[in-house]
Amino acid sequence: MNAVPRAQGLAAAQPAGTAAPPILDVRDVHKVFGGIRALNGLSIAIADGEIHCVLGPNGAGKSTFFKTLMGTDRPTSGTIHYRGSDITRLPAFRRARLGLSVKFQNIRAFSDLTVYQNLFVPLRRHHGVGEIPGRVAALLARIGLSGTETRLVKELSHGQQQWLAIAMAMASDPTVLLLDEPTAGMSVEETDKSAAIIRDLNAHGVTIVVIEHDMTFIRALAARTSVLHYGKLFAQGSFDEIAADADVRRIYLGSL
Ligand SMILES: Nc1ncnc2c1ncn2[C@@H]1O[C@H](COP(=O)(O)OP(=O)(O)OP(=O)(O)O)[C@@H](O)[C@H]1O
Ligand SMILES: [Mg+2]
Repeated sequence: MNAVPRAQGLAAAQPAGTAAPPILDVRDVHKVFGGIRALNGLSIAIADGEIHCVLGPNGAGKSTFFKTLMGTDRPTSGTIHYRGSDITRLPAFRRARLGLSVKFQNIRAFSDLTVYQNLFVPLRRHHGVGEIPGRVAALLARIGLSGTETRLVKELSHGQQQWLAIAMAMASDPTVLLLDEPTAGMSVEETDKSAAIIRDLNAHGVTIVVIEHDMTFIRALAARTSVLHYGKLFAQGSFDEIAADADVRRIYLGSL
């Protein structure tokens, strides 16, 4: 427990040992739905180029955190900065243009369409028609699905469909990719391959924030990890520090 810095205000949320300003800087964000405080003073900073894992019990506010980053939910109060600019009031499409992209929880590819058709739609928003076949091939190579353009999505395995959803989120060439529970329902092998795909995207310059419950997957990423609880930052540290934290274990009811 002592090894993990407790989250007390913004200073505690800054990445340790990084001189560069964070690429994303969330400061004291609140989001209230009726009487529910989904976010309750969340402050968290994401360093440029990192993989950052986000953990937390059901209802901790993890998905709402992503929605406020993308602009699909507006914070009730607090600010969000991207590369030092205040984007708190920017509409979602402007944030996408700045380089933010997301695969939301439970988002899937369209099962009755082909792999190519699924990638064509998001690619067409950002690129000319002539570029698309080459970009489809490049995205499929990234996720290990080269040559599957004409396959119907419903013929793919669950894992392959999830990787396709990641490729769809990569269609805009994002600087920051947010992934909400990308390995839900996957086998151990598929989960391992997902970690490899995410590390490869990160090695090619994409900052990645990933919400996950699967400890094997988070351990494989060995990334800086933040724990959310009741809508705020509860703990932050390396995966090993977080896994050894008695208070984190307690809020997960010993499931680590
Ligand atoms: N649009 C909404 N309207 C009302 N309440 C909401 C809305 N979105 C989220 N909430 C509530 O806010 C809280 C946080 O929800 P959120 O989906 O962010 O949690 P989470 O950490 O992603 O949980 P999970 O691990 O189950 O995905 C929950 O109590 C949820 O019911
Ligand atoms: Mg969620």
